[in-house]
Amino acid sequence: AQAGLPVFDHDFVQHLHTRNAQLRSTTPVQRMVTHQGMEVWVITRYDDARAALADHRLGKNAIRTQEVVNAKLPPDADHGEFATELAVHMLNMDIPDHTRLRKLVVKAFTARRVESMRPHIEQISAALLDAIPDKSDVNLLDAFAFPLPTQVISEMLGVDESRRDDFRAWTNTILDASDEQALQHAVQSASAYMVELIATKRREPADDLITALIEARDDEDRLSEQELIATVFLLLVAGHETTVNLIGNGVLALLRNPEQWAALVADPGLVPDAVEEMLRFDGPVIHGTLRHTIEPVEYGGVEIPAGEIVWVGLSAGSNDPERFAEPDRFDITRDARGHLAFGHGIHFCLGAQLARLEAQIALRQLVERFPNLRAVGSLDDVQWRFSSLIHGLQELRVCLAEG
Ligand code: HEM
Repeated sequence: AQAGLPVFDHDFVQHLHTRNAQLRSTTPVQRMVTHQGMEVWVITRYDDARAALADHRLGKNAIRTQEVVNAKLPPDADHGEFATELAVHMLNMDIPDHTRLRKLVVKAFTARRVESMRPHIEQISAALLDAIPDKSDVNLLDAFAFPLPTQVISEMLGVDESRRDDFRAWTNTILDASDEQALQHAVQSASAYMVELIATKRREPADDLITALIEARDDEDRLSEQELIATVFLLLVAGHETTVNLIGNGVLALLRNPEQWAALVADPGLVPDAVEEMLRFDGPVIHGTLRHTIEPVEYGGVEIPAGEIVWVGLSAGSNDPERFAEPDRFDITRDARGHLAFGHGIHFCLGAQLARLEAQIALRQLVERFPNLRAVGSLDDVQWRFSSLIHGLQELRVCLAEG
């Protein structure tokens, strides 16, 4: 998690596509000042963004990033803190540390383990839909899109059911933190819980991901206790705040394009393509991902000196007309592969297979069970959450009319 980081203003979040388009066409590599007064370099064209994501001169080491952020922020700004003990995970590392850690984690978080979850995800999804009491006015996020991935990752890891609400509260605070004290408290509570969870699994190994992470080896190498804690935390956070918005943003796009929904109802075999287009069109990881320049780089003819903060625009890149024709047209039949929603390069999302599986199952069940799905209220004034990381709706009210 990279809490406490400056974000663009509320208006930017609310009009993401238009604002990204403006940036792309006018100044694709642009120095901007965030609402907290921090200068960042924003990369918005597809080719630049993709290249930057794979550029080792752009680092992600948490401590170094924190130093650069602190140096860039005005003295009176809220500096926040994200290089916490929970931050020593692969997403905040550069090579070779990243290579080592990812290699170990991949031994536990395998494609086979993810695929083996399929029947279980189908059950969880169906049970959640069954449990909605009044289907005429449902906030799809709270009732379905959020609990689905949350339950899946909690079960994969072996998190106690009684602690899942606590976890939701901590993740929320850590991701959206504006209050330093609340952030510290949430980090400490979450860490204490991770320690407890890992200790339990050491005593009583089970057929779950935490046990597999504890047991993962690369020759003599294994994850240290601190690495285990941070990795489990990363997986839990990633499993909590992303797929929910893939489902939410995707269903919104389908509601706004009823002919696309009708095409899916007529042929649910289009679901995997639809999910790819959902990722391209309105991926859940907002504006971009943060890097700092280890040495000077040049993008789009603009030189960015060393020691600068760079935002690589994932949604801006995935909606670049140079790469995807008529990007503002949501079209589930287009070839959306190559989008940047899961990033690119060494940090390419480790959970992409799981996220796709969850979203495909969710969408297929919605299409098959509720072909007459419609919005409750107007879709014109949906509100987006104001967050530096997540691109998601505050709520999505729908009527789940049975077919
Ligand atoms: C990394 C997006 C779901 C685990 C990333 C990155 C992106 C991303 C953009 C790279 C960030 C960067 O380069 O700075 C997404 C999206 C998801 C999703 C859009 C859902 C639709 C998940 C899930 C998990 C997961 C469900 C695991 C449970 C990870 C991990 C990394 C990562 C561990 C770090 C990989 C590394 O640094 O090598 N994700 N993610 N993600 N994601 Fe996801």
